[in-house]
Amino acid sequence: MALHIVNHPMVQHKLTLMRQKDTSTHNFRKLLREIGMLMGYEVTSDFPLRDIEIETPMEKMVAKEIATRKVVVVPILRAGLGMVEGLLDLMPSARVGHIGMYRDESTHEPVFYYYKMPEGKDRTVILTDPMLATGGSACDAVRRLKADGYTKIRMMCLVAAPEGVKRLQTEHPDVEIYTAALDRGLNENAYILPGLGDAGDRIFGTK
Ligand code: PRP
Ligand code: URA
Repeated sequence: MALHIVNHPMVQHKLTLMRQKDTSTHNFRKLLREIGMLMGYEVTSDFPLRDIEIETPMEKMVAKEIATRKVVVVPILRAGLGMVEGLLDLMPSARVGHIGMYRDESTHEPVFYYYKMPEGKDRTVILTDPMLATGGSACDAVRRLKADGYTKIRMMCLVAAPEGVKRLQTEHPDVEIYTAALDRGLNENAYILPGLGDAGDRIFGTK
């Protein structure tokens, strides 16, 4: 399925600020939240609308509302948390699930540690993780969601490597991918180049 690169100037400008090594933890977190909301426009751009009758102070009219409210935002811990608040600014009544995994430093394979989802397998899942590097974490997260019964899954990241995009598209061709940038590739430690470093550490100030 499709790879959507969100080229909106506001998103690109904020991403450039985030990439810079001297950007503070506070600003990095704030920018990621803002980008989360802006990218939310793209991720939800095909949500169906329906007509409802309302009354303005002037007269009755038929207006539009979103036909489905069944959305669950699912961050891959930890770094995916940084995009959640921005999406909730846009969709305040969305539910939030959590998938916990971290990459093993030597194998670069994801190590799973937590899974918690709200009721309702018919919800549209917006899976968030700023970094799609080898694609191992995203593929494992999608596999667990599918095994649990979810069928409508979208992946929202910030910076993707071609390797991760290819792996996710191959293993889960039904998952639409939204990213603000498709970078050059991975280094020997499977970090994205030019990338922005370790997203989790930069959000939470852990290094
Ligand atoms: C990072 C990132 C992704 C994963 C991407 O998480 O947030 O989850 O690595 O790499 P992959 O595509 O090769 O799987 P990390 O393991 O550093 O954990 P953290 O979010 O807790 O810092
Ligand atoms: N995880 C990160 O946080 N950054 C990378 O570049 C790759 C994986």
